[in-house]
Amino acid sequence: MVRFNDLEDLIKRGDLNRGEFIRAAAMLGVSMSAVGAVLNGGTDVADAAACKPSRTPAKVPKKANYKVGFAQSELTNPWRTAETDSMKTVFNQHKNRFSYTWNNASSSTNKQVSNVEDFIAQKVDFIVVTPLQQDPLRAATAKALAACIPVFEIDRQSSGRAGKDFVTFIGSDFVAQGAKVGHWMVANTKGPINYVELYGTTGATPAILRRQGFHRVIDKQSRFRLLAGQDGNFTLAGGKQVMQNFISKYGQKIDMVYAHNDDMAFGALQALKSAGITKKVYVGTIDGQKKMIQAVAAGTVSVCVQSDPRFGPITYQTINNYLAGKKIPAWVVVHDHTYTKQNAASLVNTGF
Ligand code: AHR
Repeated sequence: MVRFNDLEDLIKRGDLNRGEFIRAAAMLGVSMSAVGAVLNGGTDVADAAACKPSRTPAKVPKKANYKVGFAQSELTNPWRTAETDSMKTVFNQHKNRFSYTWNNASSSTNKQVSNVEDFIAQKVDFIVVTPLQQDPLRAATAKALAACIPVFEIDRQSSGRAGKDFVTFIGSDFVAQGAKVGHWMVANTKGPINYVELYGTTGATPAILRRQGFHRVIDKQSRFRLLAGQDGNFTLAGGKQVMQNFISKYGQKIDMVYAHNDDMAFGALQALKSAGITKKVYVGTIDGQKKMIQAVAAGTVSVCVQSDPRFGPITYQTINNYLAGKKIPAWVVVHDHTYTKQNAASLVNTGF
């Protein structure tokens, strides 16, 4: 019969890796706190809290400097660049308190999982992650939890539960974003509307929830008819390609485009232009790039709902609150503007 002490000896000798150790300990029914204490030498921020890193511990151990690792999902559009820059800028302004490091999964879920595991191996004090896809990242978050490392999910969520499987979700209400585009279209269009939808990356929370929110509103109106929907991967090239396919099939029948982000909307506009389609096509999108807000002000795009990528300040603040022993809400909500022709010109500076 293997005992926990035996496992401890094996991992110390290097005969077990961290994953094997965690799995074997789980089979013996060993608590997360005991597993974390062995893996982290009892020095982590969350150890003093009997290893419940998804809740603010009653007493947070003081350290001169805390290591923060940010696992970015990809750098495929200006939104991701803005998010990455915002994190880097804010944490590097506080080098006396935080040692900040980040990695890029380059659109690979497997890479993002191993990037999170790297942070665990480096024994960082905090992991910040923006899960490329919600389900596969659940296991990586669970590993961090088992290693006693508090995880803050920003912008996108894994399929775990905030406040239980990770500290908090810091981000926008994606369902509301989709619903706002839907409401605008219902209120500002007349008669039958045939539309196409450019989905974000399959399996990503914003793609799932922006779709849900929009359809919750639009599907109640029988005058709206979905011609086709396809994954454009949140990129300009993807949006353009998908829109070209839609145009070759439906051409002038298309009255409206709902794109899950600005880059795909820009791609769709390029495709409409190259196809020589000059009729009025309503375009609804989400993100709030400066040039998109300008396009709304100019009337080229009908409505854009903001999804602010500047997560640095709010993430820094939330980690500081955790360190100050404050209770962190399961969802730190980021509030968004809705840009329309009426207000866009005056709000251009709120874009990125
Ligand atoms: O998760 C937020 C979405 O991801 C943004 O809308 C998009 O531009 C990004 O890639």
